[in-house]
Amino acid sequence: MSTVHYAVIDGIAVLTIDNPPVNALGEEVWTAVDTAVARAVADPAATAIVLTGAGRTFVAGADITVFEQLTTVERAMERSAYTHAMLCRLEDSAKPLVAAIHGHALGGGLELALACHYRVATPDARLGQPEVSLGIIPGAGGTQRLPRLCGVDVALRLCTTGTPLDAAAALAAHLVDLVVDGDLLQGARQFAGERASAQARRPTRELPIPADSIPAGLEACRQARNAVAPGPANRAVLAAIESVENGVTLPFDAGSVRERELFAECVVSTESRALRHLFFAERDAARLPSLPDGVTPRTVARAAVVGAGTMGSGIAMVFANAGIPVLLKDVDDATLDRSLATIRGTYDSAVQKGRLTPEGAERTLALITPVTTYEQFGDVDLVVEAVFEDLALKTRTFAELAGVTAADCILATNTSVLDVDTLAKASGRPAQVVGHHYFSPAHLMSLHEIVRGRQTSPAVVAASLTLARRLGKVPVVVGNAFGFVANRMLAYYLREAHLLLEEGASVRQIDAAMTTFGFPVGPFAMQDIAGLDVGARIRQHLRSTGRRRSEGPQSEIPDRLFELGRYGQKTGAGWYRYEPGSRTPLSDPIIDDLAHEAAKRRRIVRRDITDEEIVSRVTTALANEGCNVLGDRIARRASDIDVVYCHGFGFPRHRGGPMFHAQTIGLPTVLSRVQEYEARFGDYWRPSPLLEKLVTEGRTSIDG
Ligand code: 3HC
Repeated sequence: MSTVHYAVIDGIAVLTIDNPPVNALGEEVWTAVDTAVARAVADPAATAIVLTGAGRTFVAGADITVFEQLTTVERAMERSAYTHAMLCRLEDSAKPLVAAIHGHALGGGLELALACHYRVATPDARLGQPEVSLGIIPGAGGTQRLPRLCGVDVALRLCTTGTPLDAAAALAAHLVDLVVDGDLLQGARQFAGERASAQARRPTRELPIPADSIPAGLEACRQARNAVAPGPANRAVLAAIESVENGVTLPFDAGSVRERELFAECVVSTESRALRHLFFAERDAARLPSLPDGVTPRTVARAAVVGAGTMGSGIAMVFANAGIPVLLKDVDDATLDRSLATIRGTYDSAVQKGRLTPEGAERTLALITPVTTYEQFGDVDLVVEAVFEDLALKTRTFAELAGVTAADCILATNTSVLDVDTLAKASGRPAQVVGHHYFSPAHLMSLHEIVRGRQTSPAVVAASLTLARRLGKVPVVVGNAFGFVANRMLAYYLREAHLLLEEGASVRQIDAAMTTFGFPVGPFAMQDIAGLDVGARIRQHLRSTGRRRSEGPQSEIPDRLFELGRYGQKTGAGWYRYEPGSRTPLSDPIIDDLAHEAAKRRRIVRRDITDEEIVSRVTTALANEGCNVLGDRIARRASDIDVVYCHGFGFPRHRGGPMFHAQTIGLPTVLSRVQEYEARFGDYWRPSPLLEKLVTEGRTSIDG
């Protein structure tokens, strides 16, 4: 069956692209559109043509999976040349061609619509060129047609930010010609019929760029280029700017040739492969487990949070922001008042920044109900426990929750270190208990670890995944082990950063090496933002339980800083010092003194350390431990670990995450680095058995 359906209704040919779930354009679909338009042009029964999408969307873009086949620049150019030629054929249609857009017209989907003579859309449609988020530029004429249709500013914004326009903004930008409030197809057919009667056709590529807009357009391109740091992370953005600029300075055909070249150079790059990897990794991580017939995951209509501290308050906001009413419980009114004042402050600041209307803020705030008793807990579908990180307190809370909630209510713990199974047991209904590990600040951080306990039911995992996506989070299902995935990996990352400091590197050098690698902040600046007290209290807890740290030698410096009351930005000093009211990190000689003392105690002769060694040691520690996490089955896939570290701790997306990065370096190289470090530094650098196995088997990919 063809992926494009053909019908003639009231003299208008209606072509419907039908390639679920999002009508992505693979080779077959492009060809089917081409064929269907040619048929409509030749069909005496049709005076005009409407092109639309079946199901929930117009077209979400070119089929991203196909890019894996574009392994050389030549092949990518060839593919792009085919699409360009095909879209020009469409645009040459002798009959008016109208795109009827609902849902999304993204990437190649928008480019397809741009090659139509007109565009009509539903009010909730979204139109954009998100290619840069995949490390590429529009490769089907988008950078050439957009400036002609909407001007340079809009074209530049769409192609460099990837942010889509809603229908109203698209109408204002002349990207769509009509917003249809009622039946889209009926509106589109009527519009197309009127164009046919008027014998109107408006091929986008024939539109002139208004001469008086060119100087300002070129200046906008120059400014955009100056605002972007050169380097592989920004390869696609810079290419998009160049291509839009070509759209202004070159004739359409010449600009198109250059667009194809730039697209091809981007699509074969490691950065684009990394970003495409994350696109699918994020979706794989959120995939629902298969459930027995008749079991549907519970929908969360009402929630409750126990504990109105920083985390609990943040989690309550996450629910309210998603429109879900939430009870926020703590022991007394004073605590709740403090929490609500903080929440209100956050919304007020969003209003001041124009991110929220005053009415929106009030509406959202009204969804949070402060309570000091469990009275209303019988009506909620989910409780998130976010009390102080203390096993006895949490165990007691879970026992209480079992008595006050419905039997099928989901009981989630936000613990970051404690054993989920112990809490599950305390509740008496372990199948309903799951970890929901949010990251601080909960309302801003996208990562959400969903911790599967030994007896957590698949339906509860599925409900948690569905809920997380509704809350706008990026969920990853992880196993129940100390630190889960995120904090376990973080411990190795920080171990290496701290040891490098003792061995001779400075805090500033290590942070700079990691930001040059692509992290938004280095490991020390990150700790100053998060608060050094958090890690210190976890270490205290571990010492109190007599638990041995698995990640090897621990630098004593973080504990010394904690003892000195240097908790980071919030106390004006941590790894750096801060002037009052400023967040600019300033080097502090005390850290070098502490590093010298620590080195002396460990009998280390401090030395010059290169930036390459810093990056290599830190990333190798992550990759090796990532393999252990997989070997221990705490993560299901290497790509899940990539999602965790990119969303949790800012691993540069254009490198695809620690595991994808290890693959791009080559697994044998990673293993030989671990072996070298083991020989140099001691057996805390032990190769992961999984890494050794993968290398022995000659595997190049961890997930296979
Ligand atoms: N190619 C291949 N598969 C795609 C796809 C695409 N362009 N877009 C979405 N999918 C798949 C997803 O992988 C997912 O598959 P799964 O069910 O097996 O996991 C399924 O479609 C549904 O996608 P989402 O889970 O993301 O659904 P949502 O409803 O949450 O979001 C969306 C819909 C906003 C359209 C989102 O899917 C999206 O942003 N898609 C990508 C858009 C994009 O980047 N387009 C540009 C592609 S590159 C291009 O067009 C180049 C051109 O210039 C030549």
